[in-house]
Amino acid sequence: MKPYTVKPAQGVRGEISVPGDKSISHRSIMLGSLARGTTTVRGLLRGEDNMSTLKAFQSMGIETVDDGETLTIHGKGLHGLTEPTDVIDCGNSGTTIRLISGLLAAQNFFSVLTGDQYLRKRPMKRVLQPLSLMGAIIHGRAGGDKAPLAIVGQKLKGISYASPVASAQVKSSLMLAGLYADGETRVMEPSVSRDHSERMFRHFGADVASIPGGVVVRSGNELEGREIVVPGDISSAAFFIVAALIVPGSELLIKGVGVNPTRTGIIDILTAMGGSIELLDCRELSGEPVADLLVRSSILKGIEIGGDVVPRAIDEFPVISVAAACAQGRTTIRDARELRVKETDRIAAMAANLRLAGGCIEETDDGMVIEGVERLNGCAAESRGDHRIAMSMLIAGLAANGPVTVDDTECIATSFPTFTALLEKVAC
Ligand code: S3P
Repeated sequence: MKPYTVKPAQGVRGEISVPGDKSISHRSIMLGSLARGTTTVRGLLRGEDNMSTLKAFQSMGIETVDDGETLTIHGKGLHGLTEPTDVIDCGNSGTTIRLISGLLAAQNFFSVLTGDQYLRKRPMKRVLQPLSLMGAIIHGRAGGDKAPLAIVGQKLKGISYASPVASAQVKSSLMLAGLYADGETRVMEPSVSRDHSERMFRHFGADVASIPGGVVVRSGNELEGREIVVPGDISSAAFFIVAALIVPGSELLIKGVGVNPTRTGIIDILTAMGGSIELLDCRELSGEPVADLLVRSSILKGIEIGGDVVPRAIDEFPVISVAAACAQGRTTIRDARELRVKETDRIAAMAANLRLAGGCIEETDDGMVIEGVERLNGCAAESRGDHRIAMSMLIAGLAANGPVTVDDTECIATSFPTFTALLEKVAC
């Protein structure tokens, strides 16, 4: 347990950069390992989740050198991984376990994946079921739905799969399996989830095509080592965007943020609520769009959120619920049932925490209804071991009328190890 307290702020001001994008960092380690030759990654997020991915590949024979600025990966080609001699521990990282399940299903060796107490509760059938249609042999607890998972690598065959959930983890797991499967692997999804895998597969020379509503991967192409620059994580920037919007007297410049359209739901939602967010100096880094974000305090209004924007903002709902609690009127969030199976049940966790802070919030099956209040109260909040719940409640503390203490903030290191340092830098 590592409690942390935030006091009410008079403003959030200055200029910051947030660490590298977590999703892109995972994929750069994975594809760099599977490519022939050297891959260099600048701006890599060195959070615990990405280190779980890095250690997994090291345990399969991949050599890497990290000088603190650049991670160099000595890739061994698509067929260069070796059988790990021990269980692979994916820690808290859903992306690590779900993506590498697809990859390991296609190797000619045996492997076992596990994770921490939270990850071992999360559903895995969403990837294991389509992988089994490709011929994968994977056993898990709870009838094959929970880690630990035991994988007996096989020759796989391509399938055409319509995923019932819009999930980049499901899509990417099947895409990785598809690099090895006979023929083509087609994944369709009900609405577009983040497309970092598609972009990075292309960058490394894989045979991949985006089609309306999905993606097709064909096996056969070797991947070639590349130079990658990882943009700042919009999901980390989101906490500071909301902070600057809800604390009066704020003006904050967040430099070098990834603004891939499959991730900018947070900007669309907060702008629709009346937030002032300007995109400056739009540019491109390693096939990903990037911009600086200028955010000024704004009077926010409640809105209705649902449909296709939800997967484009899926990790931001905890902090969006904080913005909604500080807005005028009612915000309704629908179509966000996926929040119940994240690092914790984020609907239940935010409803409970915002109520502790005097917020007016009702849980629904697939979202929440939030009535804005004049001002949140100081309170003792509970992270439930979830980094985004911890950071969201600390942001709430900046705009509250008294201090907010979050009981357990160690989890923040999974995605944003420098969060509290940056908060102390910009909160006046
Ligand atoms: C991620 C996909 C999303 C997201 C997670 C990272 C990824 O999960 O919530 O934080 O890197 O592919 P789902 O695919 O389960 O929606």
